[in-house]
Amino acid sequence: MGHGMWASCFLVIALAILNIGAVAIDQTQQTERISGSAGDVLEDDPIGRLKVFVYELPSKYNKKILQKDSRCLTHMFAAEIFMHRFLLSSPVRTLNPEEADWFYTPVYSTCDLTPNGLPLPFKSPRMIRSAIQLISSRWPYWNRTEGADHFFVVPHDFAACFHYQEEKAIERGILPLLQRATLVQTFGQRNHVCLKEGSIIIPPYAPPQKMQAHLIPPDTPRSIFVYFRGLFYDVGNDPEGGYYARGARASVWENFKDNPLFDISTEHPTTYYEDMQRAVFCLCPLGWAPWSPRLVEGVVFGCIPVIIADDIVLPFADAIPWDEIGVFVAEEDVPRLDTILTSIPQEVVLRKQRLLANPSMKQAMLFPQPGQPGDAFHQILNGLARKLPHDSSTYLRPGERVLDWNAGPVGDLKPW
Ligand SMILES: *[C@@H]1O[C@H](CO)[C@@H](O)[C@H](O)[C@H]1NC(C)=O
Repeated sequence: MGHGMWASCFLVIALAILNIGAVAIDQTQQTERISGSAGDVLEDDPIGRLKVFVYELPSKYNKKILQKDSRCLTHMFAAEIFMHRFLLSSPVRTLNPEEADWFYTPVYSTCDLTPNGLPLPFKSPRMIRSAIQLISSRWPYWNRTEGADHFFVVPHDFAACFHYQEEKAIERGILPLLQRATLVQTFGQRNHVCLKEGSIIIPPYAPPQKMQAHLIPPDTPRSIFVYFRGLFYDVGNDPEGGYYARGARASVWENFKDNPLFDISTEHPTTYYEDMQRAVFCLCPLGWAPWSPRLVEGVVFGCIPVIIADDIVLPFADAIPWDEIGVFVAEEDVPRLDTILTSIPQEVVLRKQRLLANPSMKQAMLFPQPGQPGDAFHQILNGLARKLPHDSSTYLRPGERVLDWNAGPVGDLKPW
């Protein structure tokens, strides 16, 4: 087939896409109920279903760290700070630890930033160890379960493995003292040492007000077929190539940089949020870690997320039927991305758009201040409530010890 024929082919497809956008105009008021594997659980109300005790820690574990660098309030790891604030004034909070179902230890483990604003996780293990030492000596509740009724928010790239390079993260594994605790984390990938059974996967933090400020009229046609802004290569950290994003982003660029259906670039325009609202599909490829804020942005802006991250576990997957909302493309299939996306039937695209238009879907991805019913805070609480009552293995026999306080790299054992 000659080049001209391809070009006319694209034109036909592009027109078809504009048509999808046009049809979508009539559908904006129409949304669809979202039923996850646990039923219509996005609308569940956790209030009254669990009680959480918030340990009071010296401010050096949380507020003081934030005072040093307020950028922690806006980066994609900020959920740990907002979850703390949310719980302090939440009706699920109890001041009586004797009646608590869950114990929460507010440690801001991702707020030690480089000059560029990227979190350095190297002190986090010592900080968390130190906090656990403190709560286990001042209160009797840690020793009773060695953390099995405690949860920790660990929003770092590879969560409680506390390293941003996957190889190193795997080598470290989950911090030994957290082995019995429930981890609330952004990192999700099946069969990975940094994701243990029973963890609650959350969306990364994306600023709700900022996104709100960039909303355009919902009837704006979606005239962009595929949209992506971000790195394709990370030459600084991966000079040879192939390690960053396991080569998937490089493959997107190499295969589709000249394809008129693909609006992709490394330039981050000021109209980024608006552009997502004009796109049908938004690529969410893995980077160093499998997750990224693009998923949240896609949902909020009604752009169907195209997830390219093999074995990813998405946020609140027991409540949200991601298969029906997004499109999953295997990393090795990236070269066929154009065919895969253009062959999705129009009615399937429309259904995904209707599911994305459901306000409860958007709400579940956001950490607004103050919290609102159905938001990500409430979904976390729902996840914790669904784990109740604790089973008998939660509580240790008097004197029984499972955790090894001396396990892990020696550097982590130094006091903090
Ligand atoms: C918890 O156990 C540790 C030893 O494992 C002990 O040092 C500590 O005093 C205990 N905490 C309480 C509150 O009894």
